[in-house]
Amino acid sequence: MHIDRLEKYWIVIVAAVLGAFFASLLAAMLVFGLRLPSLPAEFVNPLALSETRFASPGLRDMGDGNYELTLTSLMWRFNTGSSERDADGNDIIRVPRGSRVTFFVTSADVTHGLMVERHNLNIQVIPGHVGRGTIVFNEPGEYKILCHEYCGAGHHRMHATIIVE
Ligand code: CUA
Repeated sequence: MHIDRLEKYWIVIVAAVLGAFFASLLAAMLVFGLRLPSLPAEFVNPLALSETRFASPGLRDMGDGNYELTLTSLMWRFNTGSSERDADGNDIIRVPRGSRVTFFVTSADVTHGLMVERHNLNIQVIPGHVGRGTIVFNEPGEYKILCHEYCGAGHHRMHATIIVE
């Protein structure tokens, strides 16, 4: 079969580009630990959160450095159950260095987002869905929990802070 010289070049170029895309996907997965969003951990009735674990949000010590943080997203704050607030009235949570924190989050109203600064956690917070994700805090410091989904007039102010001590 005869293949024109220019056609061969294009086959090689296309194969190289596809190979580069595939390699970048593999690198994102294997080197940076990125994963596709998983299914919601649970479903809840967003109109009856008072009958679920979200009735009493908060940080629970599960032992051996493991914590569970149950929190609710609402216009426009994260309710983490913490009584400590920053100057703007946003929640502050404190965990010891090396803590392994599993987040359980849902929305009380509209779709929000949840990401933790400088850590690999990014959850879309959808009413009725319970998002779950785990991070280990190895470096002491202050990390913002940010809403990354536009959710109305107060979206840009919506955050909480995790302090790793
Ligand atoms: Cu909540 Cu943006």
